[in-house]
Amino acid sequence: MTSAMLTPASVTVRAPAKVNLELRVGPARPDGFHALATLYQAVSLYDEVTVQSSEEWGIRIQGSRALGLPADETNLAMRAARALATRHGVDEPVEIFIEKEIPVAGGMAGGSSDAAATLVACDWMWGLGLSKDELGEVAASLGSDVPFLLHGGTAMGTGRGELITPVLTRGTFHWVLAAADVGLPTPDVYRHFDTIAERESRAMPPPASSMDLMAALRSGDPEGLAANLRNDLQEAAIELRPELGDVIEAGLHFGALAGIVSGSGPTVAFLVADTESSIDLAVALAATRTVSETFRATGPVHGASVRGVPRVD
Ligand code: C5P
Repeated sequence: MTSAMLTPASVTVRAPAKVNLELRVGPARPDGFHALATLYQAVSLYDEVTVQSSEEWGIRIQGSRALGLPADETNLAMRAARALATRHGVDEPVEIFIEKEIPVAGGMAGGSSDAAATLVACDWMWGLGLSKDELGEVAASLGSDVPFLLHGGTAMGTGRGELITPVLTRGTFHWVLAAADVGLPTPDVYRHFDTIAERESRAMPPPASSMDLMAALRSGDPEGLAANLRNDLQEAAIELRPELGDVIEAGLHFGALAGIVSGSGPTVAFLVADTESSIDLAVALAATRTVSETFRATGPVHGASVRGVPRVD
């Protein structure tokens, strides 16, 4: 362990949201998770996680989205801190403060990102100096998309989503995110995906990514990307929340290049051509009855990263 001289009093980390540009879902595995081939992109909508050394372990969640979130040992961020401490034999309690901006249970991995940010913050706080791969092992034990939120950028996720390979992209893509009032629990959406597959007697080949999508990302071509966005969970999410179909239709009507349910939903991610189009679309969608809130964001952005230089006691 480092000396107290070098221990920062607090560390603040920005935790980005993600969208899935492609989410191909295969059959359920024996462990209950589904085999995935997914392309994640981290986008510029952030929670902020501050970790502070303390006499006792604790967690507090602030912001308009904090309502109803568990601020206790069951919170994924707290589990992240505890898991890292156990693994590295650390006995230095921390208090975690989360400023929530990312919609909860929205398909944008807000909880997973808070957990990834907590790992980065605790790594600093405790002077562990771990690599992303070392933090990634703990991250994978917490949730399928936590490792991606450590890396950020644009990356392919395989396995159950936890095996990360960075993907080359050019330029910046512009997104408008349309959030719903009430979240959708991820397990319910996967379960409904299985129900549809059974009902329709669908073959479930191993999931694979589209080469056209990779090419569009490499050349920074928003039209090419729009033509290749794909989410195998979208049908299940829309059957559970039929109004999501109306939201997608409204976005396309107001000029989006494409609209897709983000992850397991219910947030809908719209790809637009540029900043001006994103402002127009966000304003138009905000006036739509089925959309509770809109956010403009760009991607790719960095994964969980420390904000500025931490204070040192
Ligand atoms: O890994 P994570 O905790 O985010 O997963 C939440 C739930 O989503 C799982 O319990 C499972 O029901 C579903 N899931 C899945 N296959 C995946 C990822 C998640 O079935 N690859």
